[in-house]
Amino acid sequence: MKRKIADKTILVTGASSGIGRELTQQLARLGARLLVTARRGELLDSLVCEVRQAHPDHDIQFLAGDITDADFRTSLMDHVQKHWGRLDGLVNNAGVGALGRFADSTPATLRQVMEVNFFAPVELIRLALPLLQLGQQPIIVNMGSVLGHRAVPLKSEYCASKFALHGLSDSLRAELAPLGIDLTMISPSTTDSDFFDHAIQDTTQKKWKSARASPVKRVATATIRAMTKGSHDVILTLGGKSLVLLDRLAPTLADHAMQRWAQ
Ligand SMILES: NC(=O)c1ccc[n+]([C@@H]2O[C@H](COP(=O)([O-])OP(=O)(O)OC[C@H]3O[C@@H](n4cnc5c(N)ncnc54)[C@H](OP(=O)(O)O)[C@@H]3O)[C@@H](O)[C@H]2O)c1
Repeated sequence: MKRKIADKTILVTGASSGIGRELTQQLARLGARLLVTARRGELLDSLVCEVRQAHPDHDIQFLAGDITDADFRTSLMDHVQKHWGRLDGLVNNAGVGALGRFADSTPATLRQVMEVNFFAPVELIRLALPLLQLGQQPIIVNMGSVLGHRAVPLKSEYCASKFALHGLSDSLRAELAPLGIDLTMISPSTTDSDFFDHAIQDTTQKKWKSARASPVKRVATATIRAMTKGSHDVILTLGGKSLVLLDRLAPTLADHAMQRWAQ
């Protein structure tokens, strides 16, 4: 099914920066009606202004809040219900990282990473299902990671959260297909955003930003392509695909490589 973006009603989480901000701008250019969210309201406000400057009277609104707060998630859905009465797209993009050895980390860090990267998107899906069922060519987009396909050291909590999202996405995709709801999982490699600066914990001395990071524009464009095509699971880079292939074909070799990298 070829999905058109124009006039679709879409909720984007994590829209204040990075991939989510760029994705919002690209979706707006294609004529999507948008509700965007994140905690930093001033950045959402400036995003909405930018979109309206380029496309006056564009249907774009924002609600600022913490996606891990159940009441806030409910208020997002109430807003969608009131303004559109249906939802055509739910983009679960908000996410956080935690960097360092598991032995140096805390139960609170693990809980927070799982709250943002797993429980929040999953509970948002649960709340959104009735509105998605009323939607036109409805789709859920879960922003995963290559690290949800092959785990690496020093990001154990993050990898666990993205593996959990990956597993749930595969299961739900099959359940939702008879209802006409698509589910796309996007798995970027390292991307040129402020993601590493926003990590809730970094106990390493490493420089995490990579010169080879994918531009957010490329990730956003690929996400929209996947939405249009209704793709199931898209690993975005050749490096990411190679890592996943190595893990499937020679898992012991992949483990050895990871062990060396962890030193
Ligand atoms: N950058 C990478 O290398 C990379 C690679 C693979 C996958 N990803 C995934 O891509 C997604 C977007 O990340 P990014 O690279 O664009 O990084 P980013 O610029 O740090 O964006 C993260 C977004 O999530 C929002 N967010 C975080 N915690 C939140 C909370 N408790 N409540 C509401 N919103 C929250 C942030 O907004 P506020 O701070 O304003 O709340 C921000 O808009 C994430 O799911 C990430 O795991 C990133």
